[in-house]
Amino acid sequence: MYNIAVIPGDGTGPEVVDEGLKVLKKVSKLYGLEYKTKVFNYGGERYLKTSKTITDEELEELKSFDAIYLGAIGHPDVKPGILEQGILLKTRFSLDQYINLRPVKLYNKDFCPLKDKKEEDIDFVVVRENSEGLYKGMGEFRNKDTKDEVAIQISHNTRKGVERCIRYAFEYTRKRNKKKTLTLCGKTNVLTYAWDLWQRTFNEVAKEYPDIKTDYAHVDATTMWFVKNPEWFDVIVTDNMFGDIITDLGAMIQGGMGIAAGGNINPDGVSMFEPIGGSAPKYTGKNVINPLAAICALGMLLEVLGEKQAAVSVEKAVIKIVKTKLKSLGAGKMGYSTTEVGDLVVEQLAK
Ligand code: IPM
Ligand code: MN
Repeated sequence: MYNIAVIPGDGTGPEVVDEGLKVLKKVSKLYGLEYKTKVFNYGGERYLKTSKTITDEELEELKSFDAIYLGAIGHPDVKPGILEQGILLKTRFSLDQYINLRPVKLYNKDFCPLKDKKEEDIDFVVVRENSEGLYKGMGEFRNKDTKDEVAIQISHNTRKGVERCIRYAFEYTRKRNKKKTLTLCGKTNVLTYAWDLWQRTFNEVAKEYPDIKTDYAHVDATTMWFVKNPEWFDVIVTDNMFGDIITDLGAMIQGGMGIAAGGNINPDGVSMFEPIGGSAPKYTGKNVINPLAAICALGMLLEVLGEKQAAVSVEKAVIKIVKTKLKSLGAGKMGYSTTEVGDLVVEQLAK
């Protein structure tokens, strides 16, 4: 019996989570999985009423679940940063979800903005460090509000934090068993403290994985290769900030935010799965948002729970729908409503 915490969150979060849960219900019937869900109202609406983001007790409770399924966090009436830091980042850090896993896979070449790229050309995974770097929030103001003001923002990288991320990426590349190539994406030519540590750690850990080919690309060049030669990549490992940036570009080349999913993973604890697109306030309540990213996130959740067959069948159903039914992956342009797309996936699963 799986216990799943559901945080629908803000904006279109609840709409896409509903479709994901519809798919979970169906796939559980098909594969004999048993699960319970508990819904939590963390998000912008609750914050506006109570001034609460997420409390330590609430985080403790989340630790007792097998997985967390998240819609979106972000509210137009809340100052930027409060919910992001107070809910999303706090949960990632408190639950030590030190990996942010973001697959970039093109399901239908018609939805790719790159010219002449086929489905097989865009199929890689970004392993983003999810607990350190610039996201640690270290820094200070000096001489604030004077003409001599200085703002210092520190990228904090520990050997342990870097090593566990790199090790995860090597293991993942081996298990994925495709091109067996792991690329370190960094900035060794300028950020000579952080990326020296990353490079040294990468080289050392690589010795334990003679079956994995290794490569290095600067982050600026990586964005170029994403557009020019995405087919070169298999698995990419990078720090928190660079991972944040390159995975938005990754989402675009796989067809857009409508299809991009991610997992905040604690390999020894509770992981949290989410569509990476945000709360999309302007589409809220219109039944037009694409639920496939949330459905793909559910697929990742099943995979991490160890339900490989169920996960594969969800992905296969999504691919079929994307290839044969949808006119576009964009909100309001799919040719179907949010709930209809969820129904299509459920129907496809039954076939
Ligand atoms: C993401 C988001 C978050 C991040 C924001 C909302 C804090 O952009 O999940 O990529 O920067 O990690
Ligand atoms: Mn981001």
